[in-house]
Amino acid sequence: MSDSKDSNDSEIRRGDFARKKGEVVLREHEYDGIQEFDQKLPNWWLFTFYGAVVWFVGYWVLYYYTDNYRTDQERIVAKVTEVKERREEALAATLSSLSDQVLIEEWATDPNIVASGEATYSQICIACHGAELDAKMSGVPLPGRPLNDGEWTYGKAPMAIFKMINEGTPPGEPGYNGVPMVAKGGGSLGPKDVAELTAFIIAKNPQDFEGATFDESGALVVE
Ligand code: HEC
Repeated sequence: MSDSKDSNDSEIRRGDFARKKGEVVLREHEYDGIQEFDQKLPNWWLFTFYGAVVWFVGYWVLYYYTDNYRTDQERIVAKVTEVKERREEALAATLSSLSDQVLIEEWATDPNIVASGEATYSQICIACHGAELDAKMSGVPLPGRPLNDGEWTYGKAPMAIFKMINEGTPPGEPGYNGVPMVAKGGGSLGPKDVAELTAFIIAKNPQDFEGATFDESGALVVE
């Protein structure tokens, strides 16, 4: 037994690195009594290893620098974001082209827009301006001004009404019976909601806007 062990040991060269295939070298260093063998790695192992390195680099480039390897979720999120951005751009374009003429001739004549405006009105504005826009509830006056009396304290032009709803009573104005209106009636409304509310109010006051004339910028000409 001890003989064969000795003869095995004697076949193993001591040195730094194995130089040819199949050669086993017992390396010269020894740390805490631990010694290392060295031999050439088999080619199948090396090919697998280098292959993995090459595959990693290729995959990394394809994954991060092309669109082909995104997950379904990333693709969907990107699509949804794109649709949302396009919708916001369309809305911004609509609002930037808003004018008295557009509000009277297009928004206030569109039943869907007016219905949306009415829905918002019934949630927020009704409390102070009443279901009939007369600022009364069962004959009792509410805090707001009537919105059906043909009087437009801050201007009858739809863009002025828009501004009034959006920003509330202008700073420094006393309000109505000492009560100012807060911006958006205290609701959290976007520009589209405010435009719809304006359309609803216009539609409820046809007598005030019939036969309206506009200048070339679309602003109401007030006689
Ligand atoms: C908390 C009560 C309150 C709510 C809610 C409220 N308002 Fe008013 N509103 C007022 C008051 C008070 C005034 C008068 C302000 C003034 O004269 O400065 C007013 C004035 C107005 C005017 C100007 C009327 C005019 O004669 O020129 C408009 C338009 C108007 N409100 C629209 C709305 C709309 C639309 C909403 C819903 C988003 C709304 N208000 C919600 C209290 C309210």
